[in-house]
Amino acid sequence: MSKDWNNRTKAVHGGIRRSQYGEVSEAIFLTQGFVYDTAEAAEARFIEAGREEFIYARYGNPTVAMFEDRIAALEGAEDAFATASGMAAVSGALSAMLKAGDHVVASRALFGSCLYVLEEVLTRFGVEVTFVDGTDLDQWRAAMRADTSLVFFESVSNPTLEVIDIRAVCEIAHKVGALVVVDNVFATPVFSKAIEQGADVVVYSATKHIDGQGRALGGVILGARDFIRGTIEPYMKHTGGSMSPFTAWIMLKGLETMHLRVNAQADSALAIADALAGHDALARVIYPGHPSHAQNALSDAQMTKGGTVLSIDLAQGQAAAFRFLNALKLCTISNNLGDAKTIVTHPATTTHQRLPDDQKQSLGITRGLVRISVGIEDPQDLVSDIRQALDAAS
Ligand SMILES: Cc1ncc(COP(=O)(O)O)c(C=O)c1O
Repeated sequence: MSKDWNNRTKAVHGGIRRSQYGEVSEAIFLTQGFVYDTAEAAEARFIEAGREEFIYARYGNPTVAMFEDRIAALEGAEDAFATASGMAAVSGALSAMLKAGDHVVASRALFGSCLYVLEEVLTRFGVEVTFVDGTDLDQWRAAMRADTSLVFFESVSNPTLEVIDIRAVCEIAHKVGALVVVDNVFATPVFSKAIEQGADVVVYSATKHIDGQGRALGGVILGARDFIRGTIEPYMKHTGGSMSPFTAWIMLKGLETMHLRVNAQADSALAIADALAGHDALARVIYPGHPSHAQNALSDAQMTKGGTVLSIDLAQGQAAAFRFLNALKLCTISNNLGDAKTIVTHPATTTHQRLPDDQKQSLGITRGLVRISVGIEDPQDLVSDIRQALDAAS
């Protein structure tokens, strides 16, 4: 792979290892293990396996290595470790990096499972967590302590689409020597490269835009080579959250078309935000790439497009939101995002249900809020479907 290739080329050719048959499409090495020519060769590989030497699929696999190298090239990271899901990436990265007595500062607007890991799991192991309003740099500054070892945030939050200033927060964290882990799912490596903006570690749920076609769960942790191979790989390979070779193949094929998909999805998301702005039934239309978004300037500076997701807030609350969801004919009710199909979600009763009401309220997860993950369908068809469902709901 040439370092000079542009991202769209890396997405198609990055990381390829061809077998002796010279296959065009990447091979799936659907095997749990590998044979050794001799007992001595087995011993030597267990002492130290090179990047092209494999032992057991939980440790690594050629198809998984192809995916890791391709996504690392796209993100501009030295290396990557592929995981069984996005949550295996988040919980794996945090668990591998933290120890009892450490202090973490995290933004409060997080996906429900990320909040669970921070609030319920890490605290049981003696890690202290301080939550801040991630959009307020003064709160980040005030929360930092001499013993703060890690900072965690979603660069664009789920589902209220707050944008966190990656460069500024990294600068604040690095001043006290803390490492920064960014969940960059909503931004995708196409719109924003968090490592280039100062993050030490980036995590993705590959289930979202990387697959992009709703087929498999997966995740990835990206960072410096010594960190990935020295800290993440031992933790992941011994605790079991590795990606399967079949999933890696799906994700490799997903990466090939990711640029085309997410650019089209973001253009449609902006067109829908434009079409819905000022609609009588809506209290808010939230899309980082739209001039009406409170952090539109930051979104434009940090991301090449505003992402593939917008949220709308039905002024008449949950009953209206449910009427809206049930009246949709094209968009489907589900809870994934980044898919080729447009997916609508009512976060207050599904993905963020477990949050207490006061927490939902402070995060802006109202009863009328509906998250729309925009797919690759014709944007006019999507606007028509959303408009007719809003009419039916009011
Ligand atoms: C921001 C964010 N991080 C992590 C995850 C977890 O990913 P997965 O479902 O692949 O475990 C999600 C899933 O919705 C997410 O939205």
